[in-house]
Amino acid sequence: MKNWILMFNAATLSFASHVIASNEIGQGPKSSQNASSSTPQRNPELIPFKAQDYSYLIGMPGFSNEALQTHFKLYQGYVTNTNLILETLAQYAAEGKDRTPQYAELKRRLMWEYDGMRLHEDYFGNLGGKGKQLESNDPLFKRIVQDFGSFDAWKKDFVATGLMRGIGWSVLYLDPISGRLVNTWINEHDHGHLAGGDPILIMDVFEHAFMPDYGLDRAKYIEAFFNNIDWSVVASRYPQQMKRMSQ
Ligand SMILES: [Fe+2]
Repeated sequence: MKNWILMFNAATLSFASHVIASNEIGQGPKSSQNASSSTPQRNPELIPFKAQDYSYLIGMPGFSNEALQTHFKLYQGYVTNTNLILETLAQYAAEGKDRTPQYAELKRRLMWEYDGMRLHEDYFGNLGGKGKQLESNDPLFKRIVQDFGSFDAWKKDFVATGLMRGIGWSVLYLDPISGRLVNTWINEHDHGHLAGGDPILIMDVFEHAFMPDYGLDRAKYIEAFFNNIDWSVVASRYPQQMKRMSQ
């Protein structure tokens, strides 16, 4: 596939991927024509992940159009790479190469791309609010108060998590075993997830999320983020997860 170059350096086991023809977003590479006929073939109707459209967020106060457009493109790259890696892993398996270093390194890479895709969807998905705050009688608000003492105490902890040095995500998780809410730091995209946890509110604090508009002033970006949270979306995630827990 011409627009993708997969380079595998056997000495360093490094993987690099180069993207992208935008018209291929959401489409994985074609399967190998040389797959062994003795190995099971993949479901030809398997549908690649498709990038969602968040262009409705353009115009959000505190987020420049340029920064958002760049961020959308980065997100689309995660979708494309997730599809590419899944296709390539399947191809390796079909060719009997599933016990090779190449396969192992791609398998490790998959979570970074996949989590990058999903976290961005949750992040963009909980933006676009019009300044409406979470109602104090909302079940999520009540649980926040129960677990953190007050909404402000929760927010202070969530913001402090987001201000940690490094690149990653500040996430309000629901622990489905206890029903407790926990603010967590996800390093990069794939380290620090609360095992079995359900993400309720997600904030991107990679440098690309704030530096174009705020430089090093991450706190200002976080303030803008809070001004644009769509609490109706965030609140709707909580009952859904609680309902799932009771099933
Ligand atoms: Fe991002």
